[in-house]
Amino acid sequence: MATVNRQITLAARPVGFPKVSDFHLVYGPLPSPAEGEVLVRSIYLSLDPYMRGRMNDAESYARPVAIGEVMPGGAVAAVVKSKDPELGAGDTVEGMLGWQEYAVARGHELRKIDSRLGPISTALGVLGMPGLTAFFGLLDICDPQPGETVVVSGAAGAVGMLVGQIAKIKGCRVVGVAGSDAKIAWLLDELGFDAAFNYKTASNGHGELEKLCPAGVDVYFDNVGGVMTDAVLRLINVKARISVCGQISQYNLETPEKGPRWLGQLIVKQAKVQGFLVSGYAERFPEGLEQLARWLKVGKLKYREDVAQGIEAAPQAFIGMLHGRNQGKQLVQLSGF
Ligand SMILES: NC(=O)c1ccc[n+]([C@@H]2O[C@H](COP(=O)([O-])OP(=O)(O)OC[C@H]3O[C@@H](n4cnc5c(N)ncnc54)[C@H](OP(=O)(O)O)[C@@H]3O)[C@@H](O)[C@H]2O)c1
Repeated sequence: MATVNRQITLAARPVGFPKVSDFHLVYGPLPSPAEGEVLVRSIYLSLDPYMRGRMNDAESYARPVAIGEVMPGGAVAAVVKSKDPELGAGDTVEGMLGWQEYAVARGHELRKIDSRLGPISTALGVLGMPGLTAFFGLLDICDPQPGETVVVSGAAGAVGMLVGQIAKIKGCRVVGVAGSDAKIAWLLDELGFDAAFNYKTASNGHGELEKLCPAGVDVYFDNVGGVMTDAVLRLINVKARISVCGQISQYNLETPEKGPRWLGQLIVKQAKVQGFLVSGYAERFPEGLEQLARWLKVGKLKYREDVAQGIEAAPQAFIGMLHGRNQGKQLVQLSGF
């Protein structure tokens, strides 16, 4: 076992897009578990857009990361030493372990992973937080019906790729918006989306959407906000449902964007808009995970992972994800299974 714990801490608060110099690679001693705790060796680290918000010195639903503090993050890990009777050395667990190779955590705050349900990395994707976000954010908030048109932005990412496939399972017509031609080809050829377009090369996003949604939009799963959301809102049908999951187009702006004032459209279309945090569904996670695992097993859900190698690669991979370089779920592999 290693004697040194390599960690990535926050070195500086980013202005606009983060830079590699906003992070710091530090070497610390291996922590030691107290009663009720376990020492784990992380295998996969999850990189997620919410981490960008935590780097700001601004109160949100979670407190900011302090300068010098280890970056927060979910990880899948192997238990090395246990002082919790429920967990033993060799168990695979998932939890908020941070950007580091080893961590100590309270046993009851970890989820034990059943590797028969899928590769252990899926506990950070389709069988983890992004899967649950897609599941509840789409089904609970939007209740999509067969034949309805569902638009999903950020469609080729961890959450979006699953939203589109779940909407297909529910018999909807699915239109995806994503940021590269390779992503669009993947959505259409492998994930079964009915239509999709590259918002980065389309000269008129609204016009493109209008062409691809001839019957209007019944459901919009919003991962990005900004101009794409403005374009979708002009096309919503009466009784449309909009799930506001994320606003990634705004996360790295130095000054907040002003948009068109479209709330009147919600009156005319008697539409529902609801924001949510996946954590609000914690009590229903077992139900969501059970259904996602069943769909995964029978091949109704496909997924892709973008895996960077080594803790030192995490900052660059995180920045890449914010720029759209990931296709599917962005992970970092920290050690072998
Ligand atoms: N509410 C919740 O509880 C909850 C939980 C999880 C995630 N989320 C939110 O869900 C969204 C997706 O998260 P994820 O984990 O699945 O990330 P992801 O989609 O795997 O990765 C982020 C993607 O955002 C896209 N993007 C970046 N800048 C953009 C811009 N200016 N306009 C449009 N798209 C842009 C990029 O793809 P392109 O190449 O397509 O640009 C990038 O690949 C995020 O907004 C996140 O904050 C919310």
